[in-house]
Amino acid sequence: MTDATIVLETHDVTVHFAGRASLFGKPASTVKAVNGVDLAIAAGETVALVGESGCGKSTLSNAIVGLQKPTAGSIKIAGQEVNGASRRQLNAIRRRVQMIFQDPALSLDPRSTIGATIGEPLLVRGIARGAKLKRRVGELLTQVGLRPEHAERYPHQFSGGQRQRVVIARALALEPELVICDEPVSALDVSVRAQILNLLVALQKRTGVAYLFVSHDLSVVRHIADRVVVMYLGRIVEEAARETFFADPKHPYTRALMSAVPEANPAVQRAKQRYVLSGELPSPANIPSGCPFHTRCPLATDICLSERPELTPRPDGARVACHHA
Ligand SMILES: Nc1ncnc2c1ncn2[C@@H]1O[C@H](COP(=O)(O)OP(=O)(O)O)[C@@H](O)[C@H]1O
Ligand SMILES: [Mg+2]
Repeated sequence: MTDATIVLETHDVTVHFAGRASLFGKPASTVKAVNGVDLAIAAGETVALVGESGCGKSTLSNAIVGLQKPTAGSIKIAGQEVNGASRRQLNAIRRRVQMIFQDPALSLDPRSTIGATIGEPLLVRGIARGAKLKRRVGELLTQVGLRPEHAERYPHQFSGGQRQRVVIARALALEPELVICDEPVSALDVSVRAQILNLLVALQKRTGVAYLFVSHDLSVVRHIADRVVVMYLGRIVEEAARETFFADPKHPYTRALMSAVPEANPAVQRAKQRYVLSGELPSPANIPSGCPFHTRCPLATDICLSERPELTPRPDGARVACHHA
């Protein structure tokens, strides 16, 4: 990747939350949600971010869009460092990155018409008003498969899938270079999920937008991602191009995630079963020593208890943090 094509580059991003002291006088422990993430996304690329619930995907996403201040690390958007940027610079940077959340019902103001909602970023930034704004909102509605006359309606007059289309239209209003989609179809009926995914793919073809696509559903990831990043307890443990990722998953955690997805071929299914994920995700307030995955890992040996494996490049381009993979 050359610098010009990188829309997002994070270095060592860390987000810790101060814990509350317990009722019984135990000292407050820090919740280490994100622990040193290096991530780059190229223009027009779709990077999937996967991992169990609680592993830090949303916290990292929030840090990238500026909803959560990182404890440490650097976030560059289109080459510009966010940390220490002036208000004005931030305003310009923020326009380039938008976010789509899981539940469209919570993302939309029930008292605003969807036209007002979609047009708001354009109005606030003085990009369009009056007839021009109306026209632009109509275009955005059409782009997401709705109709210009829908602008007059309120969110409750739409289905869940249609509401997510509205959210997507608003996210695209400022022509961002990166859209972070945090579980964008998880709250939707199964019957409309594919439609929304196909819409996201079509919009990317048209606009060249890059996606950071957060999902715990590997069948969705397989459909949409160019590259897959796996997080465990706030760290990247594996990263690979989609083909490599699905053909040759390397980290035992990745294999365990995959073993949860049913496989048509019984031989493959049996091979995968060796990696069933046992036990609970440890608390990010109390991350295991050494390799954070060792408490659940079928391959763990002494070194895994004492030394955290670095994310290391492989000949096939994957990066993996495991002593034994
Ligand atoms: N504002 C917060 N204060 C304290 N802990 C938080 C906060 N936000 C998230 N966490 C904790 O950080 C961890 C990672 O959460 P999250 O990023 O939401 O994970 P994911 O999106 O992968 O499910 C979880 O243990 C969660 O409880
Ligand atoms: Mg989340």
